[in-house]
Amino acid sequence: MEKIKRRKIEHIIHSLKHINEKTSVFEDVHFVHNCLPECDLNLIDISTKLGPWKLKHPFIINSITGGSDKVKHINQSLATAAREFNLPIAVGSQKAGIEHPEVVHTYKIVREIYPEGIIFGNIGADASIDMVEKAISMINADGIQLHLNVPQEIIMPEGDKNFTGIVNNIEYLTSSIKIPIIVKETGFGISGEKAKTLSDIGVKIIDVGGSGGTNFIAIENERSDNDFGETFLEWGIPTAISLIETLNTVKKTSDVIASGGIKNGLEAAKALALGAKAVGLAGMPLSILLQKGLSELINYIHRIITELKFTMLMLGVKTLQDLRRCPLVITGFTLQWLNQRGYNTGNYAKREYR
Ligand SMILES: Cc1cc2nc3c(=O)[nH]c(=O)nc-3n(C[C@H](O)[C@H](O)[C@H](O)COP(=O)(O)O)c2cc1C
Repeated sequence: MEKIKRRKIEHIIHSLKHINEKTSVFEDVHFVHNCLPECDLNLIDISTKLGPWKLKHPFIINSITGGSDKVKHINQSLATAAREFNLPIAVGSQKAGIEHPEVVHTYKIVREIYPEGIIFGNIGADASIDMVEKAISMINADGIQLHLNVPQEIIMPEGDKNFTGIVNNIEYLTSSIKIPIIVKETGFGISGEKAKTLSDIGVKIIDVGGSGGTNFIAIENERSDNDFGETFLEWGIPTAISLIETLNTVKKTSDVIASGGIKNGLEAAKALALGAKAVGLAGMPLSILLQKGLSELINYIHRIITELKFTMLMLGVKTLQDLRRCPLVITGFTLQWLNQRGYNTGNYAKREYR
């Protein structure tokens, strides 16, 4: 147990050192300015629908921590910030809590602080149904995230190296668990093909968790006494690319969350314009909380909400549905990648303002 507790703290410490070292390539996605927006900031509505939930703001505090007394205060503060804006919030992987009941309180604090909140549990996609049910009941979860973290496990000295049977397991859990399931990557992205696989087996909410923000290969490399991680620091599908691939292959009935290195309201607006239903944030809120405190975290969330609304005002759109119809130009590395992969990028530029 001491080993697990230490790992939780080391993840937090090393994540602060390796945040946003790469890019999530939203700089390759451009809005087309509207000089005649005919819009009023006060009329802009950024509410969204994600699965069964109607959200006032399209932001989620993504899965970070739990499992050690020393990280409980982090969940307490994140839940306080999420409550301030009615944002959904996910707890960190609950495996430690399931195996060691003495740390359950470090997850439960989120529900205690935010009893009316939309709270997501979190567990590996290889978990048994019994573990998933325990994770749900631990925090009375509204939804459960199943995480995919192969690169992290590979670089982590004590990590798994056998990843067979995961697709069947996700399909089984999806048909057995009564509350919504979110399948999420953890910073290496989801390709169009694999997003289609997930959608085809019944996954209704997919969080692309692309590269460009938190880098678990770099984090595990810090913890390891070998340096395998060094070789793979570039690994991953950047978030904007993963999002475009995913949105072009999943069924219309699947909702997509954009996450991985999203830093501000302009990047969030680009993700939402591409078609994401919500934006997940982990590394940024964590680093602001730990380096500047809770009131600065609350200011940061207020700021990204305002930046999203300013973007919509400059485009002349009042709702996120209309934002999804704004023209977008895709350039550079992202264009090259998508062209080679056979995705039609021209359609975005031909869209018309509402
Ligand atoms: C310290 C830390 C711990 C994390 N632990 C988990 C976890 O237990 N389960 C999970 O699904 N994701 C975990 N994540 C990954 C995030 O939920 C997210 O997918 C990833 O960090 C990419 O988003 P970001 O670039 O905004 O941080 C963790 C992230 C950080 C920074």
